Amino acid sequence: MITVQNLTAGYGKLEILQDLSLSFAHGQFSAVLGPNGSGKSTLMKAIMGLNTVFGGAIALNGRELIGSATEAISALGIAYVPQRENIFDELTVRENLQLGMRRRPREQRASALQETLEIFPILGRRGSQRAGLLSGGEHQMLAIAIAWLGAPTLMLLDEPSAGLAPAVATDVFRSLQDLRGRGITLIVVEQNARRILRYCDYAFVLREGRLAFEGSAEACLQDEETIKGYLGVH
Ligand SMILES: Nc1ncnc2c1ncn2[C@@H]1O[C@H](COP(=O)(O)OP(=O)(O)OP(=O)(O)O)[C@@H](O)[C@H]1O
Ligand SMILES: [Mg+2]
Repeated sequence: MITVQNLTAGYGKLEILQDLSLSFAHGQFSAVLGPNGSGKSTLMKAIMGLNTVFGGAIALNGRELIGSATEAISALGIAYVPQRENIFDELTVRENLQLGMRRRPREQRASALQETLEIFPILGRRGSQRAGLLSGGEHQMLAIAIAWLGAPTLMLLDEPSAGLAPAVATDVFRSLQDLRGRGITLIVVEQNARRILRYCDYAFVLREGRLAFEGSAEACLQDEETIKGYLGVH
């Protein structure tokens, strides 16, 4: 669904991703792993048109994305949840969810909201609370729910479990699995390699801007060299 070919990208004159080629399959829940500074967030930003591309191609279902504005890329059905500043703290949970639906036809909104609250029941119980007061896990659920309400076909999430207790991180990964079951393709950057590998289908490991490993989640978990060498032992 997304094919990255010989991508060299970074910031200003700085090249971070080096001749990177990989592809994310339709309907799959893929994890992008690797040490700090290996280029994981840079890859997401490159897909969203948020940094400098020096060469290569990024195609969504055969359609080139490089050169398009971020808004135009989102409008193709790609939702991006950055690690920070992904909700409106001053608004209530309900108002945040309503903003997430702004591009949906009015007649779809009630059922979309109902489905969202089935996936993230906690958000129904927190409807009138100011979003800035949510717990870490609730905050991430809200950010994911807002993205999902935009009716994407593909979601990019940057470290959705950052700062969460292990049990809460597990809840987040379970809800991502639920979204995958509803037909969403997921690309998730994670530090928490061992944990996400129990929930995702496929993994890519970056190292210094290059691809160090790719394979099924199971193969990645069994690859001691990758796990110990690039991912640390959690
Ligand atoms: N806006 C920027 N301007 C210049 N360099 C940047 C910028 N953002 C990131 N970098 C550099 O690009 C490299 C890769 O950063 P990136 O954020 O992609 O890493 P990452 O794999 O997401 O790491 P982490 O696990 O710490 O989030 C790092 O060396 C970083 O310092
Ligand atoms: Mg990052």
